[in-house]
Amino acid sequence: MQKAERSLQAALDWVRPRLHETPEVALILGSGLGALAESVTQALEVPVRKIPGYPPPSVSGHAGRLVFGRLEGCRVVVLQGRLHCYEGYSAQTVTLPVRLVHALGARRLIVTNAAGGLNPHFRPGTLMFIVDHINAAFHSPLVGRIDGLRPLMRGVPDMSRPYDRDWLEEAEAVALRQGIPTQRGVYLWTLGPSYETKAEIRMYRRMGADAVGMSTVPEVLEACRLGMKVLGISTITNMAAGLQAGPLTHEEVLKVGRQVRDHLEQLIRGLLRQQSAKKFQN
Ligand code: HPA
Repeated sequence: MQKAERSLQAALDWVRPRLHETPEVALILGSGLGALAESVTQALEVPVRKIPGYPPPSVSGHAGRLVFGRLEGCRVVVLQGRLHCYEGYSAQTVTLPVRLVHALGARRLIVTNAAGGLNPHFRPGTLMFIVDHINAAFHSPLVGRIDGLRPLMRGVPDMSRPYDRDWLEEAEAVALRQGIPTQRGVYLWTLGPSYETKAEIRMYRRMGADAVGMSTVPEVLEACRLGMKVLGISTITNMAAGLQAGPLTHEEVLKVGRQVRDHLEQLIRGLLRQQSAKKFQN
């Protein structure tokens, strides 16, 4: 058994017996966006350091907890605090949480992040639905056989639609009803941990990116391979390097993240409400 498989099995063996019900929707919350976890009811909170095989996050603004329970009637697991390749973890390691929640039953993933805006129409505070992405970090969790719970990868996963169109349109309708302005855009993943140079930003704009960040793509690649439906939302916390006056700081990213989290929370709650209403209709 490979190390990544052993870690997943160890984590599963530890978490599964502690759950009263399996999650249907998993939420990965990015920098400064973790507050939604506080609203989960019937919550079982698990600090990730207790889970065997689960790597501890090291970035400020990332709490490192899995919160299982109900949000707007939906069975959810909130991954508060994510792992990044720039912490020194491989793409396989940072996607262990995705394999874990999938193995626990989650078939939908909402992934949020803080990102720098490249599109000149996006101001700090904009919520952007991710319609597509560019992997400019050139890492992938799909290299090799990783989870052991499925046979060897058959073929190569299709990536022509990583983000679920129906879910995205539903989310846009919810935002419109709630009066929350949103945009659509392409997210570009850089390895980090440094912010970009001005020359890199000019290049990324020409490549067709609307926002840049240091996360999300590995989790989405893994979720797609597992056949999960994915919704991605970026919070534009700053204009990218060279597009705003002065240097970028992580504190600024956290501050704007906190300012828009009410909108993000409202939006996600609305979506989950809709999701549970559908369940009762069927
Ligand atoms: N660049 C990369 N990652 C980020 C940024 C940025 O400007 N803002 C928030 N995360």
